Amino acid sequence: MVLLSSLSELFLLFFLFTFPNLCYSIPVNTSTEYLKLPLLHRTPFTSPAQALFFDIRRLSLLHQRPSFKSPIVSGASYGSGQYFVSLRLGSPPQTLLLVADTGSDLVWIKCSACKNCSNYFPGSAFLARQSSTFFPIHCFSSLCQLVPHPLPNHCNHTLLHSPCRYEYLYADGSKTTGFFSKETTKLQISTGREKKLKSLAFGCGFRISGPSLTGASFKGAHGVMGLGRAPISFSSQLGRRFGNKFSYCLMDYTLSPPPTSYLIIGGHQSNVFSKKRSMNFTPLLVNPLSPTFYFIGIKSVYVDGIKLPINPSVWSIDQLGNGGTIIDSGTTLTFIAKPAYREILKAFKRRIKLPNAAEATPDFDLCVNVSGVSRPPLPRMSFELTGDSVFSPPSRNYFVDTDDGVKCLAIQPVHSDGDFSVLGNLMQQGYLLEFDRDKSRLGFLRRGCAQP
Ligand SMILES: *[C@@H]1O[C@H](CO)[C@@H](O)[C@H](O)[C@H]1NC(C)=O
Ligand SMILES: *[C@@H]1O[C@H](CO)[C@@H](O)[C@H](O)[C@H]1NC(C)=O
Ligand SMILES: *[C@@H]1O[C@H](CO)[C@@H](O)[C@H](O)[C@H]1NC(C)=O
Ligand SMILES: *[C@@H]1O[C@H](CO)[C@@H](O)[C@H](O)[C@H]1NC(C)=O
Repeated sequence: MVLLSSLSELFLLFFLFTFPNLCYSIPVNTSTEYLKLPLLHRTPFTSPAQALFFDIRRLSLLHQRPSFKSPIVSGASYGSGQYFVSLRLGSPPQTLLLVADTGSDLVWIKCSACKNCSNYFPGSAFLARQSSTFFPIHCFSSLCQLVPHPLPNHCNHTLLHSPCRYEYLYADGSKTTGFFSKETTKLQISTGREKKLKSLAFGCGFRISGPSLTGASFKGAHGVMGLGRAPISFSSQLGRRFGNKFSYCLMDYTLSPPPTSYLIIGGHQSNVFSKKRSMNFTPLLVNPLSPTFYFIGIKSVYVDGIKLPINPSVWSIDQLGNGGTIIDSGTTLTFIAKPAYREILKAFKRRIKLPNAAEATPDFDLCVNVSGVSRPPLPRMSFELTGDSVFSPPSRNYFVDTDDGVKCLAIQPVHSDGDFSVLGNLMQQGYLLEFDRDKSRLGFLRRGCAQP
């Protein structure tokens, strides 16, 4: 948690505008290079019920229609986003840990304006004054129009030094405010070299408050790396230079020690990854009322090869922007529209050949006793997606261990009617997922995690 007085902010301003660094260069994109950021995995949750608790909070925020004062609804900060990206920011570079979140747009980082940082808890924030390349964006700049501002928003365009203030308000009253800024970042390129990018726009968060962004739930993260579709996201900012696509593979969280996987920005995955097996693709759909999210279309669901009787309208996005399905790295479990969930649960209950667990696990509708069974026969589920591709995850992507010898179906009904469905990160495990923003399609490849 970083709380600073406005006095130190003023000091910072003085310091910055005394030594402005105005040299920006736009790196040229080359089709063969891509960025490679290690994805780290923190102990995700001690129980699925805990994941559910975080997910529910995240989703209730994601589902809120953006309003003027609360345009950002990332719940990554709610502890449910368990995949972290390490970023080197500033000159000399400071290493920061950010939640990788396809469900939000802004890149923001806890900042400190400490002058004598020797009595500052090391590594707890980005020390803006210790970087020679930190530069706040001017409030009159067109870039500043892309972020929400605190009210009243004093912007005096006649002043040379008037920073772009941003304010992100969360539904539970948590917020981060600070200066929308630019920094140099050093990123590892596929060739093993480091590439310097001189103008990453990010929120330098000087005031971070509220239950969600502080304390244990944030799990030591310095901020959030938004990978959503809006222009300010990390993927949008860097994508233009690297082919406008990104990909990741979330390694099985049950493996110990967890293997390293990467967030790849750019590149041509068909070259980078397996040549032998080809990717499946499904179109990324646009919901104008939720421009951040990556929507995909589900056509039908199969359990053990049997198509479930679900009305296709259950999956559609209506005129009010309700419904649909998003793919989200920051939510753990999978949430399905209620009529479809009821059919899925019914089908699983009918097909499953294992006894129910003696004691009910709170919040989970289907838990089975697998004690003594080495390879429990669990029904196979698959999703037929638009674009005639089929997503058939292994059962460990939707059955989680809740206790010794107990496995529960890790799928939940959405909270209220009209909420979109969410394919969470558990369901994505072991797949290489490629978000191709130019072609507006999602590629997926089973067992694509090993490379590069
Ligand atoms: C910085 O703080 C430390 C510890 O409080 C102190 O010993 C040191 O003299 C300070 N340095 C400066 C330059 O103020
Ligand atoms: C903007 O700044 C200039 C120069 O300091 C000052 O003269 C002017 O009154 C300011 N305008 C507003 C609206 O504050
Ligand atoms: C980057 O690549 C895209 C095609 O992937 C191209 O349209 C664009 O002009 C390139 N930009 C630069 C700065 O080279
Ligand atoms: C699972 O079944 C075994 C017997 O096969 C039983 O001893 C055990 O208590 C059961 N556990 C649960 C959680 O139901």
